[in-house]
Amino acid sequence: MSRAWLNERKHDFYYRKAKEEKYRSRAAYKLLQCNAKYRFLNKGQIVVDLGAAPGGWLQASRKLVGKEGLVVGVDLKEIVPLPFTNIVSVVGDIRENETHNSIEEILPGSADAVVSDVSPNVSGVWEVDHARQIDLARNSLKIALKVLRTNGNFFVKVFQGDMFQGFVEEVKRYFDRVEIIKPRASRSKSSEVFVLGMGLKV
Ligand SMILES: C[S@@+](CC[C@H](N)C(=O)[O-])C[C@H]1O[C@@H](n2cnc3c(N)ncnc32)[C@H](O)[C@@H]1O
Repeated sequence: MSRAWLNERKHDFYYRKAKEEKYRSRAAYKLLQCNAKYRFLNKGQIVVDLGAAPGGWLQASRKLVGKEGLVVGVDLKEIVPLPFTNIVSVVGDIRENETHNSIEEILPGSADAVVSDVSPNVSGVWEVDHARQIDLARNSLKIALKVLRTNGNFFVKVFQGDMFQGFVEEVKRYFDRVEIIKPRASRSKSSEVFVLGMGLKV
């Protein structure tokens, strides 16, 4: 981490807000802002959160589903437990069937929503990072198609690039309505956007 990066982070509005409001990541606000507009996570729902460490989206999802809901977080890294019995985590690679099985074993039924903030370790080579990110987004979609109920919702981070539109077309095949969203909390210089598929088709 360079000095310039550390300095920029210190002065970042959402970084400071996350510290104050005790969210584990500034990314929590991206999910909260998108949900405030589209309401794809609601009270009492079952949510699967892919690429969940360190846990900002887990905290935000738990806030939205409340104590009657359930949030299952998945990451390659161990997630330091949060003080809620209805947040459960799985350590695993979302590209592996073994991880899909672990998620299905935990779920008491179909999920209402799958959210994914999965990112690869960036190599700095744009084409490589874009291809890895699209591959992870496709794996997230694969999990969503396995675990979601009919009419369920899918929300995924994607980096824009030449494979982006192909991925959006794929999501459109399975969901009634698709939106592409750039929340305020997402840095304008970042190529990330969020693809929201609402209403899984029968
Ligand atoms: C940007 S972070 C997620 C931040 C999280 N949403 C939050 O608010 O705290 C991306 C995460 O994706 C995870 N990840 C990357 N590749 C993965 C894979 N193949 N399977 C599971 N998790 C993966 C990384 O370990 C990392 O924790």
